[in-house]
Amino acid sequence: MSRHPSLDSRRLGEHPWQITETGLSAEHYGLNASLFAQANGFIGVRGTLEEGLVGHDQEAGCFLNGIYSSEPIAYGESAYGFARNNESIASAPNPTYLQVLIDDVPVDFAQGEVLESERTLAMNTGVLTRRTLWRSPAGKTLEINTQRLVSLHERRLVMLSYAIKAVDFAGTVSVVSLLNSLPPVLHKTDDPRVGAGVSVEDIQPVASAADDTTAHLVYRLRSTGFYISAAMAHSITAPSAVRSSAIASDHQAGVRFNIDLSAGETAELTKHVVYAAGREGSLAAPESSLLPELQRCRALSFAEMAKAQQNIMDDFWATSDIVIGGNAALQQGMRFNLFHLFQSLGRDGFNNIAAKGLTGHGYDGHYFWDTEIYILPFFLFTQPDLAKNLLQYRYNLLDAARRRARDLAIDKGCLFPWRTIGGEECSAYYPAGTAQYHINADVAYAVKQYHQATGDHEFMRDAGVEVVLESARMWMSIGFFNPRLDDQFCINEVTGPDEYTACVNNNFFTNAMARTHLHYAFELTVWMQEHYPEAWRDLQQRLELDTSEPALWQQAAERMYLPVDAATGIHMQDDSFFNKKRWDIASTPAENFPLLLHYHPLVIYRHQVCKQADTVLAMLLLSDQFTLEQKKRNFDYYEGITTHDSTLSACIHSIIANEVGYADKALHYFSDVTRMDLDNHHGNTQHGIHTACMGGAWLCVVQGFAGMRVKHGLLHFAPSLPAGMTECAFHLNYQGALLKIEIDAQQARYELIKGDQLLFSQGDVSTTLSARNPNVTLPLVA
Ligand code: BGC
Repeated sequence: MSRHPSLDSRRLGEHPWQITETGLSAEHYGLNASLFAQANGFIGVRGTLEEGLVGHDQEAGCFLNGIYSSEPIAYGESAYGFARNNESIASAPNPTYLQVLIDDVPVDFAQGEVLESERTLAMNTGVLTRRTLWRSPAGKTLEINTQRLVSLHERRLVMLSYAIKAVDFAGTVSVVSLLNSLPPVLHKTDDPRVGAGVSVEDIQPVASAADDTTAHLVYRLRSTGFYISAAMAHSITAPSAVRSSAIASDHQAGVRFNIDLSAGETAELTKHVVYAAGREGSLAAPESSLLPELQRCRALSFAEMAKAQQNIMDDFWATSDIVIGGNAALQQGMRFNLFHLFQSLGRDGFNNIAAKGLTGHGYDGHYFWDTEIYILPFFLFTQPDLAKNLLQYRYNLLDAARRRARDLAIDKGCLFPWRTIGGEECSAYYPAGTAQYHINADVAYAVKQYHQATGDHEFMRDAGVEVVLESARMWMSIGFFNPRLDDQFCINEVTGPDEYTACVNNNFFTNAMARTHLHYAFELTVWMQEHYPEAWRDLQQRLELDTSEPALWQQAAERMYLPVDAATGIHMQDDSFFNKKRWDIASTPAENFPLLLHYHPLVIYRHQVCKQADTVLAMLLLSDQFTLEQKKRNFDYYEGITTHDSTLSACIHSIIANEVGYADKALHYFSDVTRMDLDNHHGNTQHGIHTACMGGAWLCVVQGFAGMRVKHGLLHFAPSLPAGMTECAFHLNYQGALLKIEIDAQQARYELIKGDQLLFSQGDVSTTLSARNPNVTLPLVA
């Protein structure tokens, strides 16, 4: 469990739909910048103050999903096939930045006195509001009221409304609104989870211009050829004439407004900022691309855009909410998590959802297996179309994955990158990166879930089957029928999900997932022949698929080596795991966690110690391949040597704890997961939120407390409610039907909200809901 001193869970209020910061905290400035971030899947803006905070410039950030720089990875000692380049999510000009001056003296909240300040991010409206009352050292009081949104309706638009009142003085208030292309300088650290950011040398100025209300800035990332283009327009209402002047230089463009105010008077500024990014040369000329867009958008009022935002949020919550009764902190945490997932999700099939969403530089903005295993289920069962984009992304990057496979001497098929943005493998440390070959099985697993839950055969025909087959071929190249083990199929030199154990033979999770993957690939060849014979012939030809290959996949799956320790009946994490010394977690000083920041990898690898769920994760993903007893035995064993130093761990432990009858533990882990970022349990949320953990919170309720599993294509539930929770309710979208599930301490109620009919089971009871018989209430099974 988290060992970082957690923050008071009431720090951000207890409102079920809002988080509220009271006062201005320099100490939590970076953390809150991540928490109060807003995004729309394309643009992400950190929740820093418009005026900034002196000494905290590096906390501001704006990111464009899928747009990145790339720099050669510097190895002291390199070797064949090492990842060559690191991609880093690009910094876009911060749309919220405003420098404010009173009679030419800059406003600095660290000086003078903050009399009142309150900032609220409303998860039901998607709008961030703030009111600050500040007295300058010269005794001049300002009241500032702001509202901002990153539009979910207009995907290129960020809007800000900024009202400034001279409470008790007369003078000139200046507001300087600037777009700046220079990336923040990030502090260097030894923590591999912190991003390196983009270098200044990569920024090539292309265009910069301003007039008395608008400005635009275009630059190119030399390393990748991406253009980033931003343009903004301002409108001001003020009691007297406003004097404005344009500012433009290579790296910045903006407008300065000088506003004369008397005591009690207010000026209101509305700012529209639009972005475009991509590799097309036309982006270099904003006159033809972005500026017309700015003209169109500047006609939209803040109220109009807030209404549009609200409508989208209403639709989202209608099917995606999880209601938690009896625990305000968990309710708030859950909605916060789902809100951020929705904001962070790439929606165009060429971008994805980063480990930190669009809220920080952490992990350089990379996408990992986090998407398929931890995040995709939430979208799949609430908004399947959004889930499809994530899989489409893998399909679109198949060629890069094929090239990567060849680097690793895999002659057929593909190897997905462990971490990437644009498709190239970016893991500089291969033992905890490239060696995680299980990524191929994770992607295939997600495709299978998607097909099962949606029946989207066209997607399978056009993309899904190719992804599964190409990724399955890899196993035949890295594994082999081992004559010394009775020709069982062994896969050596891999790393499983647990990054505290690296480059081992026969990682149980990897082999078990590969087995399922290979079976599935075989089944899909049969399915394609039957349903789409022509498309199948084309695919076979294109992939140069030998007719003998599927039979070999089937054989490898059947002969997969999955040893169980004879003495204990426990599934061995890998061939060498049980021969290692157990790490003494209880005697390790609390400040030495996470271990990765305090021990050389060799020290860690020499021990039985897990960073995160590995074998226990297999018990969940491949649930019906194990008995309850096996799950319990494995949980009991592995939990004792797991540090949960990764935020991907506690959620899986909560779900399995619940399944094997440890209700208290399930709740304990769930509480940790659900408020991971809000209470900064891992002490690093300032670098960005943890999207996999957020998806894990959803899994804890749906697969944990409601016990949802898909068995033979049907939904199955085993609901229970932990002490302290009075109810939980949510919707599931399955095969075109929308099911509402409400669980309290005694019973579970299932209601068909949309769709003709749905067959599901709870325990041993099967029920078909239909228009005539739309709901049923069943007692919980003890
Ligand atoms: C975990 C990985 C995960 C990555 C990004 C690491 O700490 O060990 O499993 O993919 O973080 O979230």
